[in-house]
Amino acid sequence: MTDIRELREITDRLRSQQRKAEVAVNLVPSENKLSPLTQLPLSTDYYNRYFFNDTLDPGFWQFRGGQDVAEIETDLTISHLSRLARAPHVNERPISGLSAMMMAMAGLGGKPGGTVVSIDVASGGHYATADMARRLGFEPVTVSVVRGRVDEQRLGQVLRERQPELIYLDLQNSRHELEVSCVADLVRVYSPRTLLHVDCSHTMGLILGGALGNPLDAGADTMGGSTHKSFPGPHKGVLFTRTLELHQHLKEAQFTMLSSHHFAETLALGLAAAEFRHFGQAYAEQMIGNAQLFSKLLAADGFDVAADENGHTTGTHQVWVKIGDAEQTDRFSESLYDHGIRVNVQVDLPGLPGPALRLGVNELTFIGGREAAVHALAEEFGNARAGIRRDGGGSRRVREQSGPPFYFVEFS
Ligand SMILES: Cc1ncc(COP(=O)(O)O)c(C=O)c1O
Repeated sequence: MTDIRELREITDRLRSQQRKAEVAVNLVPSENKLSPLTQLPLSTDYYNRYFFNDTLDPGFWQFRGGQDVAEIETDLTISHLSRLARAPHVNERPISGLSAMMMAMAGLGGKPGGTVVSIDVASGGHYATADMARRLGFEPVTVSVVRGRVDEQRLGQVLRERQPELIYLDLQNSRHELEVSCVADLVRVYSPRTLLHVDCSHTMGLILGGALGNPLDAGADTMGGSTHKSFPGPHKGVLFTRTLELHQHLKEAQFTMLSSHHFAETLALGLAAAEFRHFGQAYAEQMIGNAQLFSKLLAADGFDVAADENGHTTGTHQVWVKIGDAEQTDRFSESLYDHGIRVNVQVDLPGLPGPALRLGVNELTFIGGREAAVHALAEEFGNARAGIRRDGGGSRRVREQSGPPFYFVEFS
């Protein structure tokens, strides 16, 4: 049995790791940080509560714990998200990107046996999408994407021959913006009844900040995804549409697939959206600028940075760097970790066989990293490669070179 000493040791360990995390630089592109304001609801009683009565029906308070702040979800969260996405209908209930994916597929995929088209993993699609379609009773079909552009010939053929219920564009690993309008054009020509959903989990912050185009403007029927990657929100998911009927389909699927929507996190999402409306555009633009500068500096220092023949390195928050074989990559990642810099190793990024670093500047940008911090970061990569250790960790230097964070500091 666990005794009280063991519990003390665990809390001490958590506290000391927390102190380390507070000075670390995290470059995992699928993670971000909560602002002090956004963290507030997580330590309230609402973390413990269910909240089902989202129509605020006075006769339906079966669970009363959320009653006094219900409007923070039903008004604030929804209205700020709605304005950011320019979508009148918002489902803020999914608890993550995969949860949003499941609801979108179940709600929009039609009857069992229908076809759901997604992006193949080799060209950057999410690993779970085709299998999720299969488990929900659909026939999965994949198409490839090169530099953000779907293989139009293949998609045209799939649309003509199979008249899919749903195209689910799930680009996860990409240095390019996904081109949605050409897919919407093909749907209009070959299979107008097919629905088009864009899962922009990775690029949510870039899209809601306006640095990348809004898929709904480009002809998607629905869009959604995680709220904690390039969008600096809690671990949650969201679904948007401009069509009431589709919103209702999503709501029906959600009703069956989710009961606890993580109330405190949903309140946090509302605060994150409200806060994002103040700085989202500047943040999103800075994020892409930082990613491009970081690529340039690393390449100039001899790192093998993924780039196209025309020199394009990235138009998103992601920067990919090839280090060597699995052992060399792991050693380099460990060395950076010792410098307080936390990176993400992936295998088989599109066009980059074997292990490579998939880096994201989303979190660094959020905490105030701009040009000076990116220069310091690139230098620390060079130091880690050269085996130079810095007192207090290289991450401290990067953070010292950072400016004011994008979030409101007065809630710290
Ligand atoms: C396109 C896409 N869908 C879904 C997910 C899963 O999101 P989560 O980890 O929030 O469940 C990801 C994560 O990278 C993603 O890129």
